[in-house]
Amino acid sequence: NEKPTALIMIFGATGDLAKRKLFPSLYQLFQKDRLDRFAVIGVARRSLTNEEFKDSVKKSIAPNGETDSSIEEFVSKFYYHSHDVTDSNSYSALNELAKELDSGYKLDGNRIFYLAMAPEFFGTIAEHLKSDGLTDVGGFKRLVIEKPFGHDLESAKVLNRQIRTAFSENEIYRIDHYLGKEMVQNIEVIRFANSIFEPLWNNRFISNIQVTSSETLGVEERGRYYEKSGALRDMVQNHMLQMVSLLAMEPPISLTTDEIRSEKVRVFRALRTIKGSEVNEYFVRGQYGSGTLNGKDVPAYNQEEMVNPESNTETFVAGKLMIDNFRWAGVPFYIRTGKRMETKSTKIVVQFKDIPMDLYNKQEGSVSPNLLVIHIQPDEGITLHLNAKKNGQTFGSTPVKLSYANKGIDGLNTPEAYEKLLYDCLRGDATNFTHWDEVALSWGFVDNISSVWENEKEESFPNYNSGTMGPRKAEELLEKDGFFWWPVE
Ligand code: BG6
Repeated sequence: NEKPTALIMIFGATGDLAKRKLFPSLYQLFQKDRLDRFAVIGVARRSLTNEEFKDSVKKSIAPNGETDSSIEEFVSKFYYHSHDVTDSNSYSALNELAKELDSGYKLDGNRIFYLAMAPEFFGTIAEHLKSDGLTDVGGFKRLVIEKPFGHDLESAKVLNRQIRTAFSENEIYRIDHYLGKEMVQNIEVIRFANSIFEPLWNNRFISNIQVTSSETLGVEERGRYYEKSGALRDMVQNHMLQMVSLLAMEPPISLTTDEIRSEKVRVFRALRTIKGSEVNEYFVRGQYGSGTLNGKDVPAYNQEEMVNPESNTETFVAGKLMIDNFRWAGVPFYIRTGKRMETKSTKIVVQFKDIPMDLYNKQEGSVSPNLLVIHIQPDEGITLHLNAKKNGQTFGSTPVKLSYANKGIDGLNTPEAYEKLLYDCLRGDATNFTHWDEVALSWGFVDNISSVWENEKEESFPNYNSGTMGPRKAEELLEKDGFFWWPVE
């Protein structure tokens, strides 16, 4: 139960992420008495008084306006600095405020710089933090950086070089909020703490693994960003590949940050490169058309605000990944993710190989493959699908499910991913953040695909209706291999 002390500067403090996730998560940590001495400087362009800023923080944690002494005490530690990201004078003024708070609150010279704003300024800010003296601290200094980390490998390298002028690799916390999700963190525990799974976790016993992250939301107000990004950059380069690396990694020799990250990096290195004419064999792209979701008519992607009516941007990706090493040779990892799909759900299905012969197929009902389903969201838990005898005068088999629901058993609300990640960063634990090598390798993988897609207009767009599980081709991707997507209900 470490209780860290730090000055936290949030760049982009008037933005959506700060209000929706960061302030409420910090408040949770405060309420649970996880923090020792701390103060927060909200940094953004807009000119606001400290009082106005405190009010907006209050609103973000207590939207109904009810307040109590704990909320009042929490927001009393918040300050605001109106900032120009390109002006050295503005950084100097910020530094003065930081020094004042550091001595006033006895923050031991520890500083966290959280960049929760437009990515085009990440590099500039990091450089100024150094040149204008904000990184000259007596304690620790850490940079927390939101996605997107670059747009492709080249731009990610440029950004990395810029931030490395001011921070060393172990001071950089690249956020992938999926790594803060309870059940994503559970992947390692399920694998490495159970003798019944790890011996089977390889190409002798597993036939394929399916990772689905479907959303019902459309592109909302993010058309401008999304047009340049698409689902491949927005979801696959980071969240989807991160989940695959946790599923595929070798057991680390210990649970230290370095050991875990280096095992994950080895997965990325073994990921088969898919390029040129192979891309459309291994990957499928989709774009949503109009449709009905939860009883409401919703527009097609190319009718959304800030989206080109002729857009070639994908809002859905399905792909087959191969990991060319001893453990996984021959086992496909299928991934799919998209917007405006039937349900909001993130799930992993591990399908085990069929038993050598099905003795029960002459009886009523033949056996089904064993599945291990890891429910990431909205339900959290694990289900193991087995076969058991049908009741009564028969030798037939019937599928049964053993289920563990995270919430039901622990009786606690799972902490928000951001709460865990913020706490990790304050304590100096970078395990659940992405190392530069992971970022670089995953961009390399994704760039090969986007370079083909960007140069080939997909004439069939829009090719799936809102409220469905994506284009037909995504089904064919598995059918070619004799598999199908297990339902995510
Ligand atoms: C973000 C993407 O990283 O993840 C969004 O930019 C997406 O487009 C979101 O909606 C999904 O996160 P979650 O936690 O709702 O699955």
